[in-house]
Amino acid sequence: MTRRVLILGATSGIAQEVARCFAAERAKLFLVARDPEKLKALTDDLKVRGAESVETYAADLTDHSSYPLIISRSLAVWGGLDAVLIAHGILPDQVSVESNPALLLNSIEINYISVVSLLMRLAIALEEQRSGVLAVIGSVAGDRGRRSNYVYGSAKSALATFVAGLRLRLAAANVQVVLVKPGWVRTPMTAHLSQNFLFVSAEQAGRGVYSAMISPRAVVYCPWYWKWIMGLVRIIPEPIFAKLNL
Ligand SMILES: NC(=O)c1ccc[n+]([C@@H]2O[C@H](COP(=O)([O-])OP(=O)(O)OC[C@H]3O[C@@H](n4cnc5c(N)ncnc54)[C@H](OP(=O)(O)O)[C@@H]3O)[C@@H](O)[C@H]2O)c1
Repeated sequence: MTRRVLILGATSGIAQEVARCFAAERAKLFLVARDPEKLKALTDDLKVRGAESVETYAADLTDHSSYPLIISRSLAVWGGLDAVLIAHGILPDQVSVESNPALLLNSIEINYISVVSLLMRLAIALEEQRSGVLAVIGSVAGDRGRRSNYVYGSAKSALATFVAGLRLRLAAANVQVVLVKPGWVRTPMTAHLSQNFLFVSAEQAGRGVYSAMISPRAVVYCPWYWKWIMGLVRIIPEPIFAKLNL
């Protein structure tokens, strides 16, 4: 079967690796990202790697007016979609967002509002089709509020709750909803952070997201050991957690 795949935020470090995995199985890809030059380079790369067909659409995903066209075109081009990935996001500087309400709202818009708005529209489309996998990239940062990234984490946490409910709704329509929660991944998003042994490559994370999409499960930590790390982090009592200053 040739899978028909829509990827939103396709030029993200992780999403590019997911797209490469799909290209290797000769999938048909519909890529959405805001930078046409990056989209072109990615398209050329994916064709060389075996993608049967690559279509692109350039849009800033904070522009909600672009959503109807993105969804209708991606559905129409091959007569349906087998898998969708929403991958766009930003990691705002925590100190800056604390003193800049515009940055705060922009971060919530990109990491939460645009994502759930797209999910709601895609849900209707896949529900009508009565098949498909709808995957979203969350984060382990959504598992517990931390001093250093609670604005980003709160958007991912709200997203997890939204996705959990959407999954229950779409189960009746044979549509699977997958939330992938990566830990630290080496991508442009984290390039300014000092790296530690828990960082994995974008390639490893991308393979993890791809596996979660082709063998869908509700929530997938990426790599798997983050499930246990975050299980421990969640049960640390608040007074001790405060002293850890994470
Ligand atoms: N890296 C990590 O450690 C990590 C950990 C957990 C979760 N995640 C999540 O993984 C996902 C992918 O992130 P990444 O690590 O691959 O980071 P990345 O390489 O920095 O990718 C972020 C992507 O989001 C796109 N984007 C940002 N604002 C946008 C907008 N307004 N409209 C359209 N696209 C927009 C960027 O587009 P441009 O290419 O045009 O800049 C970029 O392609 C995100 O949801 C992130 O929160 C990452």
